[in-house]
Amino acid sequence: MHAWLCENPIGVEALTWKESPTPEPKAGEVRIAIRAASLNFPDLLIVQNKYQMKPPLPFVPGSEYAGVIEAVGAGVAHLKPGDRVAAFGGTGGFGTHACVSAALVMPLPPGFAFDDAAAFILTYGTTHHALIDRGALKSGETLLVLGAAGGVGTAAIQIGKLLGARVIAAASSDEKLELCRELGADATINYASGNLREELKSLTGGKGPDVVYDPVGGDLAEPVFRSIAWRGRYLVIGFAQGGIPALPLNLPLLKGASLVGVFWGEFARREPKAHAQALAELARWYTEGKVKPVIDQRLPMRDLPRAFELMGSRKVRGKLVMTND
Ligand SMILES: NC(=O)c1ccc[n+]([C@@H]2O[C@H](COP(=O)([O-])OP(=O)(O)OC[C@H]3O[C@@H](n4cnc5c(N)ncnc54)[C@H](OP(=O)(O)O)[C@@H]3O)[C@@H](O)[C@H]2O)c1
Repeated sequence: MHAWLCENPIGVEALTWKESPTPEPKAGEVRIAIRAASLNFPDLLIVQNKYQMKPPLPFVPGSEYAGVIEAVGAGVAHLKPGDRVAAFGGTGGFGTHACVSAALVMPLPPGFAFDDAAAFILTYGTTHHALIDRGALKSGETLLVLGAAGGVGTAAIQIGKLLGARVIAAASSDEKLELCRELGADATINYASGNLREELKSLTGGKGPDVVYDPVGGDLAEPVFRSIAWRGRYLVIGFAQGGIPALPLNLPLLKGASLVGVFWGEFARREPKAHAQALAELARWYTEGKVKPVIDQRLPMRDLPRAFELMGSRKVRGKLVMTND
């Protein structure tokens, strides 16, 4: 097998494409021949030693991938060689093969394309948990999505619309906002050129958004929280801008609003039944054509550094998928 190896987590430039013996799955594991793996923001952080999870060195990055089971370890009864699957393994995806715990594998319904499956579990799983479980978004409410043209952002537009919300998408360029409108956003705000607070006020008749989905953080959080509606829910998804915002606590008090943390990985680990139910609902929505990952580009697995460069420079609309053809 071949894989991108991180021996020194000082950045993308230190990754090397290396050959190694194809591993045999241990008890409880399966080996997957990877067809496609998607790039998620945590993949960028993990190779720089900036992510909360710090895998032992060396490791193969790539949190999420899809392919065909080649071999199963002892004790695995519900999966077999030849099964088409997606996996959220946390690491291991940027290569040709990976061994992963069978518990982290999702069998794919017929017609679920590998590219889409590789770009599905993290973005849609996070967003389902965020909007439904943590945010209790209701039909008729207004949802504001920041970083709306990114991986989790595009999923938030789709699921927000599916739940009957009015979706305001906010992003840093008009090209990104065009994509958001194609995905069904009802209104858009360019926060690089416009006045976010003023535009939110005019788009909501002064009321503000009921739910905010924030994967960006940094200097957007405080002005947006100041705009939130009475009884609003501000979903803390991530900090793609880099800075972790600090919020004066009088703001939630004055708005009767909630600051709600969202940690999908921990939710999946602590509440496996609820997580499995959410994934099953998402897979059904996919087969019914109600949600579909937005794939900006497919690149050969060997071009991973280029994919990291595109993500780090905010050039991606939707997701990047690396393929083994
Ligand atoms: N809490 C959870 O359970 C959970 C789960 C999954 C992901 N996340 C987090 O969610 C965030 C987004 O992940 P993603 O995979 O959707 O990433 P992504 O596709 O790269 O989207 C991130 C968006 O953030 C914006 N951004 C602002 N400043 C940026 C900067 N300096 N560099 C890069 N992007 C910047 C970009 O939109 P504009 O250019 O329009 O501003 C970009 O589209 C990450 O922080 C990730 O760790 C959290």
